[in-house]
Amino acid sequence: NKFVPAKPAGTRSVDEITGSRRLRRMRKADWSRRLVQENRLTVDDLIWPIFLTGGSNVREPIDAMPDVFRLSIDQAVREAERAAKLGIPALATFPNIDARRKDVTGSHILDPDNLINAATRAIKAAVPEIGIITDAALDPFTSHGHDGILRDGIIVNDETVEQVAAAAVLQAAAGSDIVAPSDMMDGRIGAIRDALDANGFQDVAIMSYATKFASAFYGPYREAIGTQGLLKGDKKTYYIDHANSDEAVREAEQDLAEGADMLMVKPGLPYLDIIRRLKDEFRVPTFAYQVSGEYSMIKAASANGWIDGEKAMLESLLALKRAGCDGILTYFAPRVAEILKG
Ligand code: PBG
Repeated sequence: NKFVPAKPAGTRSVDEITGSRRLRRMRKADWSRRLVQENRLTVDDLIWPIFLTGGSNVREPIDAMPDVFRLSIDQAVREAERAAKLGIPALATFPNIDARRKDVTGSHILDPDNLINAATRAIKAAVPEIGIITDAALDPFTSHGHDGILRDGIIVNDETVEQVAAAAVLQAAAGSDIVAPSDMMDGRIGAIRDALDANGFQDVAIMSYATKFASAFYGPYREAIGTQGLLKGDKKTYYIDHANSDEAVREAEQDLAEGADMLMVKPGLPYLDIIRRLKDEFRVPTFAYQVSGEYSMIKAASANGWIDGEKAMLESLLALKRAGCDGILTYFAPRVAEILKG
């Protein structure tokens, strides 16, 4: 009374169905899988974003980002030394600015001795071989958490661009190797290029956050730099609508025309299609930012025992490479580098 399916007369064998093409042949052993592996994650692909805070000997945990800390400059220097030993090519710095220094225009970004610039100087002095990427954005410095000058409820484009370009020059003067404006104002790349060149910083590169989407995945970052609770409204009048991909291509095209040396897509994993489109279209160095929310999701699921966190970490980063990335900003950078070192 058990039902035994019959192979109906005249049906094809698997060899007839596949024409003897069997893709499992090369998957059968570790050695053959390694041999045909198309993409690889290496330590050279990693950019490590770190958070800065005032004081000395400070390592403040960030609740929403397990194993990530706000570092005083001396601690950031130690981490830079560790990163260099691990072979990580570059750091990206993000400051948590004392609330008393924040104002409506983010004027403290123009202080040559602010936290970003002081950290760049200290890291460059101690670890000259590591690349420093600085974010020329106002949001850590504004009392409202927006990336621009806010007037009558509007983020004013052109004045913000002027301020961001001036800040970029100060960052370059402090020793920044790559200025990476994340504010998405129109015209910022060209203005920064002009300002850098006019001040003798022809060799400082620009990584454009060309396609930065209005995204829920930045949540934990706002705790990290102390802007949660400050931000009024959202950033939809300057970041790209996450429904759009043609617009992302136009934005990247514009930024390259204005002088961007490299492109970045942000966030990473939900935007693999954008990475692939940009790489195919422009063939320029293309990066992804695996943002705080992506990091925290993996850490949270892993802490609950729901996924293998290290495997998910490596899979997500390799997926970004497969999509076309030349490199990835990731909070996992030191852990990945340790694993890759064996
Ligand atoms: C804003 C900025 C953001 C991030 C870095 N710079 C997003 C935002 O606050 O809107 C996010 C980084 C992350 O989530 O890891 N200039």
